[in-house]
Amino acid sequence: MALNKMKDLKIEEQERITVDYVKGILQPTPTCEVWDQIWNFQAKPDDLLISTYPKAGTTWAQEIVDLIQNNGDIEKSKRAPIHVRIPFIEWVHPAIGSGLEKANALPSPRTLKTHLPIDLLPPSFLEKNCKIIYVARNPKDNMVSYYHFHRMNKALPHPGTWEEYFESFLAGKVCWGSWYDHVKGWWKAKDQHRILYLFYEDMKKNPKDEIQKLAKFIGNNLDDEVLDRIVHHTSFDVMKLNPMANYSLVPVEIMNHSISPFMRKGSVGDWKNYFTVAQNERFDEDYKKNMEDTSLSFQFQ
Ligand code: A3P
Repeated sequence: MALNKMKDLKIEEQERITVDYVKGILQPTPTCEVWDQIWNFQAKPDDLLISTYPKAGTTWAQEIVDLIQNNGDIEKSKRAPIHVRIPFIEWVHPAIGSGLEKANALPSPRTLKTHLPIDLLPPSFLEKNCKIIYVARNPKDNMVSYYHFHRMNKALPHPGTWEEYFESFLAGKVCWGSWYDHVKGWWKAKDQHRILYLFYEDMKKNPKDEIQKLAKFIGNNLDDEVLDRIVHHTSFDVMKLNPMANYSLVPVEIMNHSISPFMRKGSVGDWKNYFTVAQNERFDEDYKKNMEDTSLSFQFQ
């Protein structure tokens, strides 16, 4: 349903959002409707952008970055929900608002979020040489996480059964497009631009080192004590209970955490609980074919 029609409905009457294509990539219809504005977004040289394929650990990176920028001040990080502190530029929802408007209202230096593949990124980010943090997650866990997110989130289409979703994901027929094109496109771009490319699995394995890397990239020197505080505050168990980071403040009619919480498992290897042997074989074959032309690789633990 189009955004202007949804605005007339009460939240509980709203249906799931529909999708359309922007330059061959599926996007929620409200995003498609304002695509020209998104494409023409004017980044500023001191903007910091956090970019990910959906469900790769965006919120985790956002919370870490916000804390680094505030020298580990936990109270400051609780000043607003994460999607207000760090606007999601291409996101438009009648009940939550427009990411563009939120971004334009923020004072500089701004930190912003996107899920756009590199080819759809508003050109001003690269023209202005903005610093960009990219987080990638192994595709099997990424797929499982995205499937559950579709189930609980009316701002995305219904995923269908797990078997159906598995096929949609492999075909790239999901919002923000093919996982392969996304991770490979940003990987290639990192050599020409100021992009720090991180992995969810490394963040799980050694959060302190990865946070240190982030702090260095952003340009903040952190004391060891501050680093430890950030590691603790951004652990899955702590973030799961933090209403400013766990999306529990979004109306339940949009995100229903009783279907599947936003902070679901936060683990590596959950795909083993979902992939059948046949699906895993099919996935591995597809992965091999699609990753032949890149130096980027993922391990499946
Ligand atoms: P799961 O569904 O596998 O639990 P995004 O923020 O990009 O939407 O990603 C959400 C995924 O990151 C979810 O994965 C969520 O649980 C996980 N996540 C969020 N915060 C995390 C943290 N502090 N540590 C580990 N995983 C986290």
